[in-house]
Amino acid sequence: MTDPVLIKGTRLYGEGEPVDVLVENGVIAEIGAPAAAEDVAVVDARGQVLLPGFVDLHTHLREPGREDTETIESGSKAAALGGYTAVFAMANTDPVADNAVVVEHVWRRGREIGLVDVHPVGAVTLGLAGEKLAELGTMAKSAARVRIFSDDGKCVADPLIMRRALEYSTALGAVVAQHAEEPRLTVGAQAHEGERASRLGYTGWPASAEESIVARDCLLAEHAGARLHVCHVSTAGTADVLRWAKDRGTRVSAEVTPHHLLLTDERLATYDPVNKVNPPLRTESDAEKLRAALAEGVIDCVATDHAPHAVQDKDCEWAAAKPGMLGLQTAVSIVAGTMVRTGLLDWRGVARVMSERPAAIAGLPDQGRPLAEGEPANLVLVDPDAEWTVRGAELASISDNTPYEGMRLPGVVTATLLRGRITSREGKIR
Ligand code: DOR
Repeated sequence: MTDPVLIKGTRLYGEGEPVDVLVENGVIAEIGAPAAAEDVAVVDARGQVLLPGFVDLHTHLREPGREDTETIESGSKAAALGGYTAVFAMANTDPVADNAVVVEHVWRRGREIGLVDVHPVGAVTLGLAGEKLAELGTMAKSAARVRIFSDDGKCVADPLIMRRALEYSTALGAVVAQHAEEPRLTVGAQAHEGERASRLGYTGWPASAEESIVARDCLLAEHAGARLHVCHVSTAGTADVLRWAKDRGTRVSAEVTPHHLLLTDERLATYDPVNKVNPPLRTESDAEKLRAALAEGVIDCVATDHAPHAVQDKDCEWAAAKPGMLGLQTAVSIVAGTMVRTGLLDWRGVARVMSERPAAIAGLPDQGRPLAEGEPANLVLVDPDAEWTVRGAELASISDNTPYEGMRLPGVVTATLLRGRITSREGKIR
């Protein structure tokens, strides 16, 4: 049982007149002007937008194995502060989450901490080696009820293994999330293949390495009657392939990261490995087309690819640095800046791409629900007019590899509620 919460003067989806919302027993009890109940915690939400809690299909929590960079606890705090009520923890841990023991550990630890629903992603292949399928059925039937399988960080490059994974996951009611990168085309790749990488002498990561795998997998999924999810779409060409596949009726969904919406390979000029990420930052024209594809629905949702790394793995020469950047606490601000302030999405659209679509893709029945009486109170309040300055050292993650250091960003998460309980408030964990 949690104490009732009265959210005063908020606008649902940023629309209409301000209303009061009473949250009681884990659900939205009343919308309108409810009389304050006794012992109610009042949240002054004037000028703030109420949305369903965000769902991140793609986060790296690094536990087990690299607890020096992030733990399920520190990552859960970052998620709650970022407005998330559910996150999917990628399988590239050490040991790999390719069996029931590891996925159950991740799931249980998430429950113990209780700040956000932590759903483990199961690996597609044993040890992410791309050779033998992991025990998808055992993970799906474990207490963790795995519903997304992914070798993220690596591509399931073998088409026969990918085909089998698609077939089995369909039978299990799950989805395969592909890290689309044809490995033969990205040997030694350091940055987006193009003029900037050439000038700096970096080996290029060509757009075709992503686009060719996405096209292949859409066809494999279509022939298998399976669902496919494409991780971190980074090129305009991939958006075109997705549009083509969706027009044919292929059951494909896709995500884009906040960093691919905003940042470009122009950042290479700094030589700062904080900008190294996989897939790499692309061109301004790619970023512009990704924003349009997200607005149009060709790309379904935003996922962070939150990827914490230790100082020694980032504060070093570019070629030696690990790819990845923090994302959980900055995601909604980047979306506000790139999509809302530009008029590409309104806040109802943000609810769609950060909550409703990801919840539907993952098959979460109690997330991404409408803001209506009787619905689970998984909620986030955002102040759309406020701004904040990003300081990596002040983020909840153990690592501090944010590419937005010192930037002033729009959109501040003022409260997150998980099943009616306040998990974060005014930048503090509750
Ligand atoms: O930049 C990335 N970092 N991309 C990935 O696919 C993996 C991730 C990581 O695990 O650090």
